Amino acid sequence: MKTYRIAVIPGDGTGPEVIAEGLKVLQAVSLKCNFKYETVHFDFGGARYLRTKEVLPSSAISDLKKFDAIYLGAIGHPDVKPGILEKGILLKLRFDLDQYINLRPVKLYDERFCPLKNKKPEHIDFVVVRENSEGLYKGMGEFKDKDTLNEVATQISYNTRRGIERCLRYAFEYTRKNRKRKQLTLCGKTNVLTFAFDLWERTFQAVAKEYSDIKIDYAHVDAMTMWFVKNPEWFDVIVTDNMFGDIITDLGAMIQGGMGIAAGGNINPQGVSMFEPIGGSAPKYTGKNVINPLAAICAGGMLLEHLGETLAAEKIENAVKEVVRTKLKDLAAGQMGYSTMEVGDLVVKLL
Ligand code: IPM
Ligand code: MN
Repeated sequence: MKTYRIAVIPGDGTGPEVIAEGLKVLQAVSLKCNFKYETVHFDFGGARYLRTKEVLPSSAISDLKKFDAIYLGAIGHPDVKPGILEKGILLKLRFDLDQYINLRPVKLYDERFCPLKNKKPEHIDFVVVRENSEGLYKGMGEFKDKDTLNEVATQISYNTRRGIERCLRYAFEYTRKNRKRKQLTLCGKTNVLTFAFDLWERTFQAVAKEYSDIKIDYAHVDAMTMWFVKNPEWFDVIVTDNMFGDIITDLGAMIQGGMGIAAGGNINPQGVSMFEPIGGSAPKYTGKNVINPLAAICAGGMLLEHLGETLAAEKIENAVKEVVRTKLKDLAAGQMGYSTMEVGDLVVKLL
C-alpha cells in the first residue's frame, strides 16, 4: 500500500485552527478507508516572515515538489504590508509549482444558508475553472515617472495560447469526466478586452471541436455576476482567466453559504497540487475557536479526491453536508452554535 506524503502549511491567522480540524478528519477517514499518509509541516507565513525577514526559504519549492499534495491553511498577516506574503508565498507556490488550474466548486448544501431568494441546493451546483498562472497575475507592468504628476502605472494581462489551451483542455476534460449536464461556459469580456479574450474565444472554439459531447456557451464577466445572483442554475462548469476567476469565485462562495464552506484546489495535473479553504486568515477570529473549519475540511476532501481516494472524499462530503443541514445554526464564524473543534468532531462522527 502506498503511503501518501502530504505537506501541511497551516499558515497565518485562523489557518492553523482550521487545518487542525481538517487533519482530524483526514486521520479518521484514513482509518475507515484504509489508506496511509504521512504529513510534514512547514511554517511558511507572516509570523515566520516577521521573525526571519524571509518570505520563503530557497529550498521551499524543491522540498514541496517531493510531496503528493499540499494542504494549505491561509496566508496573510495584519502586520505585513499587503502584497508581500500574497506574492511571496501563495502566488509563488502556485506559479513555481505550475499549478495552472484553480478549481473552485460552488455547491449549496442547505437553502437556509443561501442569501438568494428561492434558491435551493438543486439551483446552485457548479464549478469554476480559473486559469491560475497568467493574466493580470503575471505581475507584468511598470510605473513611469513615479511620484510625479505625470505618473503612469500599467499592469499587463499576459495570455499565451499554450496557457489558455491547457486550461481550456482541463475544463473540457473535467466537464466530460465529472459532470452530468456537460455544459461549459467561457466567461470573458470579448467586447472590451479585444486582444486577451479574442485569443481565449478563438482557442475555446478550436478546442471545443474535439468535445462534441459538451455544450458550450459564453458570457461576459459583468453579466456573469448578474446571472450568479439571478439564475445560478444555468451554470455547470465555467472557465475563465485568473482575475475574473478570482472575482466571480468570491461571489460564488457567498451564494453557496459563505467563506466558511468554500474550498479550492490549485492543480498541476502533472505535478504537485495544493488545496486550501479560500477564505483567508481572518485575523479578528484568530485563536478564538469560532472560525468555521468546513471549508478546510472540504479542501481536504478535494485533496483526497485528487489523490484518487474517491470513497474517502465522498464520505467527507456527505458528512459535511449532514453537519450543515442538521447541526449548524449558521455557517459564519461565531454563529455556528458550535466551536471550531466541535464542528470538526461532528464531521468525524458522521463519516
Ligand atoms: C484567492 C486570493 C488570492 C488571489 C490572493 C490572496 C493573492 O484572493 O485565492 O482567491 O487573488 O488569488
Ligand atoms: Mn480571491
